Amino acid sequence: MLYQRSSSLFKDAEKVIPGGVNSPVRAFGAVGGTPIFAKSAKGAYVHDEDGNIYIDYINSWGPMILGHAFEPVVDAVIKKAKQGTSFGMPTAIETEIAQLAISMVPNIDKIRFVNSGTEACMSAVRLARGYTKKDKIIKFAGCYHGHSDAFLIAAGSGAITFGTPNSPGVTQGTAKDTFLAKFNDIDNVTQLVEANKGEIACIIIEPVAGNMGCIPPKDNFLKKLRALCDQHDILLIFDEVMTGFRLAPGGAQELYNVNADIVCFGKVIGGGLPVGAFAARNEIMDFLAPLGPVYQAGTLSGNPLAMAAGLAMLQHLNSDRTVFDRLAEKTEYLHHGMSKALEVNKVKHTINRMGSMISIHFEEHEVHDFESAAKANNETFKKFFHGMLKEGVYIAPSAFETWFICDALSYDDLDATIKAVATVSKDL
Ligand SMILES: Cc1ncc(COP(=O)(O)O)c(C=O)c1O
Repeated sequence: MLYQRSSSLFKDAEKVIPGGVNSPVRAFGAVGGTPIFAKSAKGAYVHDEDGNIYIDYINSWGPMILGHAFEPVVDAVIKKAKQGTSFGMPTAIETEIAQLAISMVPNIDKIRFVNSGTEACMSAVRLARGYTKKDKIIKFAGCYHGHSDAFLIAAGSGAITFGTPNSPGVTQGTAKDTFLAKFNDIDNVTQLVEANKGEIACIIIEPVAGNMGCIPPKDNFLKKLRALCDQHDILLIFDEVMTGFRLAPGGAQELYNVNADIVCFGKVIGGGLPVGAFAARNEIMDFLAPLGPVYQAGTLSGNPLAMAAGLAMLQHLNSDRTVFDRLAEKTEYLHHGMSKALEVNKVKHTINRMGSMISIHFEEHEVHDFESAAKANNETFKKFFHGMLKEGVYIAPSAFETWFICDALSYDDLDATIKAVATVSKDL
């Protein structure tokens, strides 16, 4: 494959955009090389600026659950755009998508739309703090909730000490209010809660983690978290930015039969336009301005184009609920095919999967938290990534990201992907 035009576009971009990208992971920093510039996409395929075509397993990092340029979504956006692109006034479509989302997701009465997953999680934490009148929060190592200050925290010196900033610009003052716990380790979370009794406003978690590869909860971890939160009057926040409207119509809450107190959404709910949302029962949501004291706002929140895309997407998912089983079946097929190809070539690996999320870690040990994910062989992943790219398969350019399966993928595409894995794994 030739990447001449992408390379030249990247050089131009680097001169005017920091690192040439508007979101760091796109820069290929974790795998080396220079990024490929997308020109267009349709269904399961992305076309780059050099004319190469790839089977796409990023799907815009999740939103394109039905494939790229899904016609009902595109048509809805075009139609809406002709009526004006933003008003800064309430519109009927905001209520329409709110009603539909609430009907699909368990345990929520009201929803507020924002413009990104970051905003959704940041606002959910503020709401939890305002509602509980407590300041401290617990998050899990390896879970990502966007780039707001409270989440850019690394582990402190001991298991029960507060975190330290992991980006310059995040203050020590902010870091001291965020504790870092170990995913899938209820004893560790309990210890943190016990050591800070009466101070924790909320625990925020990706119910199926997708930002350290795909790591599902094990041993009823989510149910145990729910019980711990109930015992200590802590709000449980599910960050369903990846899992919402993907793992089931009602997301991870439905899949695992565990209710969260606040749920955050992004990606699928916007059909590929910039949308996030957070939702909860009335008593919590009514704490938000203008009804309540917790302030949260947005000039473009509930933007008509974004709402049109999101509504068309949710309507489709709601009317064809077989899609979730279909996606899980395709993911399982891919899992078994890739496993076989890697085994034949004696490549050590662990594949994790849940619904339409899947990832490969290049080690044999079980990957169940950040520590075990970080022990996998990143050099093998880099080779694998570039090998797959050469074979026309585009996976996330980092071992710490889940792949997203979309409904536009055919079994021929999956077979082609498995064949590519077989070819690439000969040289790993
Ligand atoms: C679980 C999770 N939460 C929040 C975010 C932040 O969303 P955004 O990038 O839209 O701000 C992401 C982004 O990938 C995410 O994966």
